[in-house]
Amino acid sequence: MQWTTFFESLAKLEPDDEFVSGRPGGLSPELAGQVADDIATKLNLNACDTLLDYGSGTGVITRALATRVSSTTAADMTKAVVNRGIEGGGDIEWVVLGNDNPDLSCSFTKLLSYYNAQSFTTHTEVREHIEVLCKSVAPGGTVMFGDIPDRERSNQWKSGERGREENRTTWMGRLQKRDIDLERNQRDLAAFTDRLKGLGIEAPPEFGKPHPGFDRDIVTRMFRELGGEVTIVTQPIEFPNAHTSVDYVVHFNE
Ligand SMILES: C[S@@+](CC[C@H](N)C(=O)[O-])C[C@H]1O[C@@H](n2cnc3c(N)ncnc32)[C@H](O)[C@@H]1O
Repeated sequence: MQWTTFFESLAKLEPDDEFVSGRPGGLSPELAGQVADDIATKLNLNACDTLLDYGSGTGVITRALATRVSSTTAADMTKAVVNRGIEGGGDIEWVVLGNDNPDLSCSFTKLLSYYNAQSFTTHTEVREHIEVLCKSVAPGGTVMFGDIPDRERSNQWKSGERGREENRTTWMGRLQKRDIDLERNQRDLAAFTDRLKGLGIEAPPEFGKPHPGFDRDIVTRMFRELGGEVTIVTQPIEFPNAHTSVDYVVHFNE
């Protein structure tokens, strides 16, 4: 099972929109709103912006961003996902990547790719993705490559019983003080896995396994080589994956 087939099956068979993004805990409108606020701040979105959400899924976050900018395009490589996004409404232009093939180059002042890198295994795949993103941003624009599995944070996160005990007393001890529910991810994952079974959807083998993460220096260099100035921002800690992901906010010169 490939990731695109997985998302296609979810878009066709999963009745609840909250789960179509493949997030084990779902993406409620409230959470989408919180994520959108965070993205709008990091991208410094304003009413003059032209926004591209690349790998938008069904556009739950895109819709919450579209009201803050002048025009919004959502692009996803899975047709069934786009169809579901169109049904969801909003002032958004939709693109099926690989089918529609419009020229997106240098067209957008702000560009988002959020929660897309979980399906990449190599830095080469990340590089190819980054090249596409950088081609689409206008001079002076900003790219946010967000919710990216992070090697540094993943190495600090230990799974399993023994890991949980260690996490409690060492690195995760810091998180515990900030009221993080350490068992939440495991509960969400178990419930989502049951849900998939009920729908007859087989997940890709990597689904639910901890992602080893990408190297911050390598990813930063990739953007730099393409002319971007990179700021790495940690996710707000109460967000899903906050303990294993970071955001890259990348500015390009005029
Ligand atoms: C986990 S969902 C995330 C959707 C949305 N950005 C969000 O945060 O809710 C991943 C989506 O990315 C799309 N996708 C995965 N890899 C992609 C790629 N290389 N280019 C474009 N879309 C991609 C999939 O079709 C799927 O709809």
